[in-house]
Amino acid sequence: MAKTRTVYRCSDCGTASPKWTGRCDGCGEWNTLVEELDVRAATSTPLSPASTPQPMDEVTHEDAAARSTGLTEVDRVLGGGLVPGSVTLVGGEPGIGKSTLLLQLLGAAAKTGLRGLYVSGEESAAQVRGRADRLAAVHADVWLVAETVLPHIVGHLEEIKPDLVVIDSVQTLHDPVLASAPGSVAQVRECAHTLVQHAKRVGTAVLLVGHVTKEGTLAGPRVLEHVVDTVLEFDGDRQHGLRLLRASKHRFGPTNEVGLLQMDGAGLAPVDDPSGLFLADRVTGVSGSAIVPTVDGNRPLLIELQALVAQSQLTNPRRSAQGIDQGRLAMLLAVLERRCGVAVMANDVYALAVGGTKVTDPGADAAVALAILSSLTGQPLPDDLVVIGEVGLGGELRHVGHLERRLTESARMGFRRAIVPKAANVDVRELELLRAPTLRAAVALAGFVE
Ligand code: TYD
Ligand code: MG
Repeated sequence: MAKTRTVYRCSDCGTASPKWTGRCDGCGEWNTLVEELDVRAATSTPLSPASTPQPMDEVTHEDAAARSTGLTEVDRVLGGGLVPGSVTLVGGEPGIGKSTLLLQLLGAAAKTGLRGLYVSGEESAAQVRGRADRLAAVHADVWLVAETVLPHIVGHLEEIKPDLVVIDSVQTLHDPVLASAPGSVAQVRECAHTLVQHAKRVGTAVLLVGHVTKEGTLAGPRVLEHVVDTVLEFDGDRQHGLRLLRASKHRFGPTNEVGLLQMDGAGLAPVDDPSGLFLADRVTGVSGSAIVPTVDGNRPLLIELQALVAQSQLTNPRRSAQGIDQGRLAMLLAVLERRCGVAVMANDVYALAVGGTKVTDPGADAAVALAILSSLTGQPLPDDLVVIGEVGLGGELRHVGHLERRLTESARMGFRRAIVPKAANVDVRELELLRAPTLRAAVALAGFVE
């Protein structure tokens, strides 16, 4: 067998070097050299059977059918379930519940007849078993091994032939061929590459756990995002127990569905009434709060937006946005000031989406703006009012999608009035529509006098 060699390659310009150096000989950049397996060793072997192009309608694809994981919220995000041979990266902060979710997933999948293997690189088999007991995820067809060495893991996969394998986590994997430490870009990339090839060959669905740093990027695994088929992000507010699962990349379906789960003593359970949960702690009659019915994927979700406007002591007043886009907040402040005659630019402004969720729906613009105005004036918005509309730079209120779904959910949650863009042509029982062509008109309809 040919001896495997490694080289160090610059991640900027691609120049290879036999030794690690601090500075790349090719482009002069510092700290860009990353260890990798020598490609020449691989290409010196005769080319494997050539590929054969086929007319598209003759290519079979029945293997690509997704199989249910047994967890409804995960299936929802994946558009039905996991495709055999696919590789999914599950990213999230440490302690958010990735191990819990995937252990439950293997337990649930085993009940539907899928064999699973859980490879733990962080906890002992006994620890994982203890957790599985609490999660009721113990099943004869869920296999367990504490292992971090890649060739051993591949050996276990050959022997057990699972339908699903969980690698917890990809940062602990180690291929002895490489000199780099576990968790380094080189190890993470090469190990994942080997697993991807194995998965495609035998049709095992691989789930890779990747820890995310405080800044929200996948440390190391960022390099994996284009290697894997699907990237799932698991996040949420640790204090509230609410967890959100989204796909930021998905080769087998749309990426707009959100899975909502709640962490309690028995692990993660699907949330039956998300709007009710998000509004559970709402205090009415307080200024600086507005409710927006958003649509995340296909599911309507009522979210409370809060703002606090305070007199600023700074030359550059403070702007703080949590769960809302910072640039969007700055834009709404400028529109309030210039188009609605509200002097707000000289104040500190804090704005947040309650419940640890991230609001990316532009339909929340008008609600953010009214929450700011409400805080500035100290006047609460009516209790039974929801606000919908994207705000343009001209101060106009723009139409948003899924209006009927948003309004039906609002009515279900007991709201009786909705500020909507002028073009709204839906009719929802028990809900009075207040049509506003501009943000300025919305301000008046919400009860603010100039
Ligand atoms: P874990 O799955 O270990 O997180 P990760 O793998 O993302 O690092 O989750 C750990 C947290 O979840 C821990 O703080 C305890 C909590 N937890 C529960 O609240 N209930 C449970 O049933 C379990 C198993 C964990
Ligand atoms: Mg874990």
